Amino acid sequence: LAEITTLLLSRIRDVADYPEPGVMFKDITPLLADPVAFTALTDALAEVTVRHGATKIVGLEARGFILGAPVAVRAGVGFIPVRKAGKLPGATLSQAYDLEYGSAEIEVHAEDLVAGDRVMVIDDVLATGGTAEASLQLIRRAGAEVAGVAVLMELGFLAGRARLEPALAGAPLESLILV
Ligand code: PRP
Ligand code: MG
Repeated sequence: LAEITTLLLSRIRDVADYPEPGVMFKDITPLLADPVAFTALTDALAEVTVRHGATKIVGLEARGFILGAPVAVRAGVGFIPVRKAGKLPGATLSQAYDLEYGSAEIEVHAEDLVAGDRVMVIDDVLATGGTAEASLQLIRRAGAEVAGVAVLMELGFLAGRARLEPALAGAPLESLILV
């Protein structure tokens, strides 16, 4: 596992002052372009998904789609997209959440999550935890159960884990890399 972590970390590029001054952006495109690293990541997240008994994966637009879809295929479970507001054509549940400046809103097709589902949320980065927290609220409002949240990378200094704790309500937060 230490070897996988080292491989994954070596394929994440730090970009200083993006998208704004003072922010160190974690660019996963080198990892996606490396089939060995992308496969290792997919396998690791699929193992987490199966271990926690998830029956569906929710991927968070946009980077959570890239990671979550192959994990769903590998784990043999369905993939549900949680989209930024205004992109889904059917009946939706939506959830607003606060950003550092302003707010955002995410949506899911209401019929995609039902009672009896056990849902694993997949994303690339847990930063403040706002996006993941809103997704857990959507899952619960749909009547489904939260199997956990799995991310490639957790930015410890932003304390997303603490913010997420109440919404997790005992479900696990698995991060492959803690920075
Ligand atoms: C980024 C990242 C996570 C989220 C983490 O998404 O991919 O989804 O921010 O931040 P938080 O924990 O503070 O909510 P973003 O919407 O910036 O871009 P994307 O569409 O490229 O995924
Ligand atoms: Mg994102």
